[in-house]
Amino acid sequence: MFNKIRLWKKQNNNSSTLRDNIEKIKKMPVPEHVAIIMDGNGRWAKKRALPRVAGHHEGMKVVRKITKLSNMLGIKALTLYAFSTENWKRPKNEVDYLMKLPEEFLGSFLPELIEENVQVRMIGYKDQLPIHTLNAIEKAIDDTKNNDGLVLNFALNYGSRAEIIDATVQVLNDYKSGILNESDINEELFSSYLMTSNLKDPDLLIRTSGEIRLSNFMLWQLAYSEFWFTDVLWPDFGEQHLLEAVEAFQNRQRRFGGV
Ligand code: FPP
Repeated sequence: MFNKIRLWKKQNNNSSTLRDNIEKIKKMPVPEHVAIIMDGNGRWAKKRALPRVAGHHEGMKVVRKITKLSNMLGIKALTLYAFSTENWKRPKNEVDYLMKLPEEFLGSFLPELIEENVQVRMIGYKDQLPIHTLNAIEKAIDDTKNNDGLVLNFALNYGSRAEIIDATVQVLNDYKSGILNESDINEELFSSYLMTSNLKDPDLLIRTSGEIRLSNFMLWQLAYSEFWFTDVLWPDFGEQHLLEAVEAFQNRQRRFGGV
């Protein structure tokens, strides 16, 4: 009983600290678009002698927490790198598991996302996705299309180099067919041919697990983003870590090449 009271007090203290921190962060402008490379699920599982997929499952629960907090903070878009075009090289059982996660996640949390006014979107190549994965995503996109709160954008079977090449080919085709003149081709136009055409570029990129690289993620879109890296493994990433990243962002000076 005594332990229970102590635990309750600890949880309440923690949640009031969290609330205070949220209020503090909200007093300054928050990044409008946060992109996250959710890394370290495998190592998290290995440390516990669990199969790698257990790390992915735990990582999925973190997605829920971080989505809720992002929405509370007034962040407008959250792009999560959930599966890259290179991830097909992983063992079949892991790929199959990762392809089931969107269904599991949306099966449990879609009502909550709808209630919280979140709009689900996806960037990436839909064609190679298993039909059950695609159906779950497309249902969520459709069910939330009129929501105007946080955009929860899953990067699923996404690869930035392929995206840039595809955009280039489309620009070239539109030039050849006379829709575009050479003088129309500038950064703004090129951006509009990317999968992120309806999103502003990320203001903040977070990568967990101590890896300091982009891994073919939003290479064009991250040109002027602030980067924040942490050694924390994605399944251990909590609300305080997101607040820490946003606070670090708020203390940066963005010059976009100026002085
Ligand atoms: C990288 O960690 C992580 C992934 C390839 C998958 C990320 C997916 C999730 C966090 C769940 C997504 C949830 C939804 C709802 C789609 P890793 O496996 O490369 O870790 P390691 O570097 O430690 O091996």
